[in-house]
Amino acid sequence: MEDLFGGAAPYYARYRPGYGQAAIEHLAETLGADSRVLDLGCGPGTIAIPLAPRVKAVLAVDPAQEMLAEGRRRAGSVTNIAWLRGDSTALRALPPFDRVVMGRSFHWMDRRAVLIELDELLPAGGAVALIGPSRQQGEPWQPDAQPWQPVERRVCEEFRLDIHTAATSFHATGEHHRDVLAASPFSILDSRVFTRRLTWDVDGLVGLQLSYSYSSPARLGDRLPAFMQALRQALLADNPAGRWEQELATEVLVARRSER
Ligand SMILES: C[S@@+](CC[C@H](N)C(=O)[O-])C[C@H]1O[C@@H](n2cnc3c(N)ncnc32)[C@H](O)[C@@H]1O
Repeated sequence: MEDLFGGAAPYYARYRPGYGQAAIEHLAETLGADSRVLDLGCGPGTIAIPLAPRVKAVLAVDPAQEMLAEGRRRAGSVTNIAWLRGDSTALRALPPFDRVVMGRSFHWMDRRAVLIELDELLPAGGAVALIGPSRQQGEPWQPDAQPWQPVERRVCEEFRLDIHTAATSFHATGEHHRDVLAASPFSILDSRVFTRRLTWDVDGLVGLQLSYSYSSPARLGDRLPAFMQALRQALLADNPAGRWEQELATEVLVARRSER
């Protein structure tokens, strides 16, 4: 599988906000202390690393070697995470697991096929949890409406970077994850939203931009320095104070089978 996030992993690890302690604690409680959790599309361990001390074991799986390398590095002495190269098309090749979590990764997959396969692989009581930005049901996929985003979008357009190259299946159908789950064997849904306030500076926003697949260092190639400079200048021209506030709402959506 192509590395969709070429060169983005260090920026991802450093600048993408994690999900916050409350969301991770809720996730851990829901999954259970005895669970062996598959973190599918684990990236640099955004979930795997804080979750590991709260569960039995984490299988952190991602197609991108760079992401796995970041994860291993950041995990340090945490011993109950296995980092494996793999993806949603080869779930049967993985060691056993009894719960699944996907953080901002489900939209990269053939979602229906993954859920059908997980229904075969997960034991009774198994659950699938999605974590990501909270959106209203039925709302089309779009970047969160944040104060810096019109500037960011303008600069991306100048560099012919198209956000719509991302998130294939979600874009193709426009169907919310919630509706895909509701029509799957994992149709019993429980949603919790956790809200936090973040403050960004200009380095953070430039770094954040480089963590996205559609504007990754690999996609920019030798235009990377020019892009970083253009984005920095445009952001500061728009907001010379250089501080941006964000209200970040994270949804933990847990899906279970109905009793059979
Ligand atoms: C936006 S990152 C999310 C990383 C992390 N889970 C988080 O919550 O921050 C999406 C990850 O999904 C991975 N990915 C893309 N397609 C995938 C697939 N078909 N199966 C599993 N992972 C995939 C990418 O390599 C990337 O690391």
